[in-house]
Amino acid sequence: MTNDTLLSVKDLKVYFPAGDGIARAVDGVSFEVRRDETVCLVGESGCGKTVSALSILRLNPVPPAEIAGGRIMFDGQSLLKLDEESMRRLRGKHIAMVFQEPLTSLNPVFTIGDQIGEAVSIHENIGTEALHRRCVQLLKSVGMPFPEQRLKDYPHQLSGGQRQRVMIAMALACAPRLIIADEPTTALDVTVQAQILQLFKSIQKKRSMSLLYITHDLGVVANIADRVYVMYAGAIVEQGNTVQIFRHACHPYTQGLLASLPSRLKRGKRLYSIPGVVPNPAFKPKGCPFHPRCPYAEPVCREEFPEMCDYGDGHLARCPVLFDKRDL
Ligand SMILES: Nc1ncnc2c1ncn2[C@@H]1O[C@H](COP(=O)(O)OP(=O)(O)OP(=O)(O)O)[C@@H](O)[C@H]1O
Ligand code: SF4
Ligand SMILES: [Mg+2]
Repeated sequence: MTNDTLLSVKDLKVYFPAGDGIARAVDGVSFEVRRDETVCLVGESGCGKTVSALSILRLNPVPPAEIAGGRIMFDGQSLLKLDEESMRRLRGKHIAMVFQEPLTSLNPVFTIGDQIGEAVSIHENIGTEALHRRCVQLLKSVGMPFPEQRLKDYPHQLSGGQRQRVMIAMALACAPRLIIADEPTTALDVTVQAQILQLFKSIQKKRSMSLLYITHDLGVVANIADRVYVMYAGAIVEQGNTVQIFRHACHPYTQGLLASLPSRLKRGKRLYSIPGVVPNPAFKPKGCPFHPRCPYAEPVCREEFPEMCDYGDGHLARCPVLFDKRDL
C-alpha cells in the first residue's frame, strides 16, 4: 500500500450458506485503487465481482452473507470496523455506487429533481433555490439535455441512457473521492453504452477522482482502465496495467477472455469461447479453480491453488505453469 492508495482490499472472504455447505463467493480477494485512477475488475458472470464491490460499502445482506475474513481500508479508515452511522455518512459522501439497472435504483413515485435533491441534501444543508441550481448544474455536468425540464420528470419518462445519467449525477452530488460502477452500461444499447462510458472517462479526469469499474466486457476495459484485475471463481488471477494485460496476458484465463474478444481481424470467423463454465462457488474444484477449463493444466494444478507469480512492474499472474515456460 502506497501513499497514493485510496482503497485497499486485502484477502477479502465473503461466504454464503449453500445447502449443507458454503458458497465461497469471494475467497481471498486483494486489490487496490489509487487516487485519480480507473481500475477495472473483470471476469465472467458469477465470479464474485458484485459481492466484492458491495462489501466495500457493506451492502451485502448479513446474513446470509458472512464476511469470513479480510480488511478494507479507505483513506486510512478500516471499513469493516466502522460503526453503522459512520458507514452511512461515508456512502454517497466519499464513496458512491452506480448500478447496472437504473430503473430499479430510482424511485418511480418521485421526480428526478426530488431524487437528485435528496442525494445532495443528505450530506449538505442548503436552501431551496441553491439546491435547485445545484440539481440543474449536476444534470448539465452529465450531459443531460434540457436539465430544467428533466428535473420535473419521473423516471419512467426518461430513456435508459438518461436514467443512467441521472444515477451518475446522484453519485456525483457530493463530489465523492471514489465511484464504484457495477456494469453501468450493460442494460443499455450499444451507442448509448459508448456515450455513458465516455461520460465516466471525462468525469474521472475532470474531477480527479478514482473509479472502480466492474464489467465482464474486456472491450470496455481496454477503453477505460489504467489498471486491471482479472477475477475468476472468487479470486484475482491476474493484475497489471492495460498494456500488460492486453499485450502480455500471462494467465490462461485472461488469454482465453482475450481470445474471445470480437475483432476486425476475426470478422467472419467463429468466435472462440472458453470451454466449460465458471464453477458454482459451493463446489469449486480443488487446486487451481480454472484447471477443468485450462488448456495448460498439469497434474499439480489439481492439487493446490498457486500463489501469484511476479512478472515485474506490478504485473502478477496466478499460474506457475506459464511462469516457468515464459523464457522457453
Ligand atoms: N445473497 C446471496 N446468496 C447466495 N449466494 C449469493 C448471493 N449473492 C451472490 N451470491 C453468489 O455469489 C457468487 C458471485 O456473485 P456475484 O453477483 O458477485 O457475481 P458477478 O461476478 O457480479 O456476476 P455478474 O457478472 O453476473 O454480475 C454467485 O455464485 C452468486 O450466486
Ligand atoms: S495453474 Fe494450472 S490450471 Fe491454473 S491456470 Fe495455470 S496451468 Fe492452468
Ligand atoms: Mg455482478
